[in-house]
Amino acid sequence: MKPHRFGPRQDAVASIGQGTWQFDGGDRQAAVAALVRGIELGMTHIDTAELYGEAEPMVAEAIQGRRDQVFLVSKVLPSNASRRGTIQACERSLRRLRTDRLDCYLLHWRGSHPLADTLAAFDELERAGKIRSWGVSNFDVSDLEEARAIAGPGRIACNQVLYHLRERSIEHAVLPWCEANQVAVVGYSPFGHGRFPRPNTPGGQVLAAIAGDHGATPRQVALRFLARRPSLFAIPKASSSEHAEENAGAGDLQLSDAELARIDAAFPAGPQQAELPML
Ligand SMILES: NC(=O)c1ccc[n+]([C@@H]2O[C@H](COP(=O)([O-])OP(=O)(O)OC[C@H]3O[C@@H](n4cnc5c(N)ncnc54)[C@H](OP(=O)(O)O)[C@@H]3O)[C@@H](O)[C@H]2O)c1
Repeated sequence: MKPHRFGPRQDAVASIGQGTWQFDGGDRQAAVAALVRGIELGMTHIDTAELYGEAEPMVAEAIQGRRDQVFLVSKVLPSNASRRGTIQACERSLRRLRTDRLDCYLLHWRGSHPLADTLAAFDELERAGKIRSWGVSNFDVSDLEEARAIAGPGRIACNQVLYHLRERSIEHAVLPWCEANQVAVVGYSPFGHGRFPRPNTPGGQVLAAIAGDHGATPRQVALRFLARRPSLFAIPKASSSEHAEENAGAGDLQLSDAELARIDAAFPAGPQQAELPML
C-alpha cells in the first residue's frame, strides 16, 4: 500500500484507508474481522467518530495489539465542540477506543460553537499528547480560511470531504486550497455510500474496461482514481473481509495518465457547488 504524506506533519499514511460509519449495523465479529484484515493488507488509516455508535469500541477490538501500526482518526460532534466539550468528547473517544492518543482529531462539521473555542481545545489536547494533529471535515474554502486565520498557517492536518466519481465538486476550489496550504484531503463515501456506478452504464463500462486491463476490479480503479494525487486519501467502509481485501487491492494499482483521463471524461467534475453537503 503506497503511503501519501498527510498534511503539514508529512506523516506517511495509507492512501486507501477504512471508514466505520454504520459499521455496527450487522454482524459485529465479521465487521471487526474485516477491519483487521484491512489493516493486515496495509489499510492502516482508520476513520471513526463519536457519532458512529458502537464503531469506536469495534475499532478498539480491531486495533488491539496493533495500535502502533494504525493512523487513528476520530471526530467531535459540532454540538460538543465547545472548548470544554471538545476535551471531554476526545477523552470519551480515547476511552472507547482503548488508546491514549489519536493521530488526528477532526471537527465533524461546522456548528454553532465558535471555531476559535474548538481550535483552542484541539491545541490543548495536542499539547497534552492526547492528539498528534487535528483537522476539519465538510469545510468549504471560507471555513478553511477562517480556521487558518485563527490557528495560523501549517496547522490544519486535513479536510475530510465528500468525494466520489459522481461528486467531484471539491476539485473546483477546496482541493486547490488544500494543496496550496499542505492540507490532506480525505475523501469520504468513495463508493457513493453504496451507490457505485452500475456495470451497464457508460461510466461503469469505462471502469470495467480499465479494470480488465489490469486484472483489477472497477472499485479498485475508482479508489485509485480518487487517491491519484499525493494530497488525496480515500476511506471506503467495508464490513466483510472480502470487501476489505478488494479495497486493499487498490493500494498498488497504477493507472496511466491516459486511463485517468478516460475516467475523468466518463465522470466529469460538474459545476461548483455553493456549499459542501453536510452529513
Ligand atoms: N466526515 C463525514 O461527514 C463523513 C460522512 C460520511 C462518511 N464518512 C466516512 O467515510 C467512510 C466511507 O463512506 P461511507 O461509509 O458513507 O460509504 P462508502 O465507503 O462509499 O460505501 C460503503 C458501502 O460500500 C460497500 N462496499 C465496500 N467495499 C465494497 C466492495 N469491495 N464491494 C462491494 N461493496 C463494497 C459497503 O458494503 P459492506 O459494508 O457490506 O462491506 C457499504 O455498503 C465512512 O464509513 C466514514 O468513516 C465521513
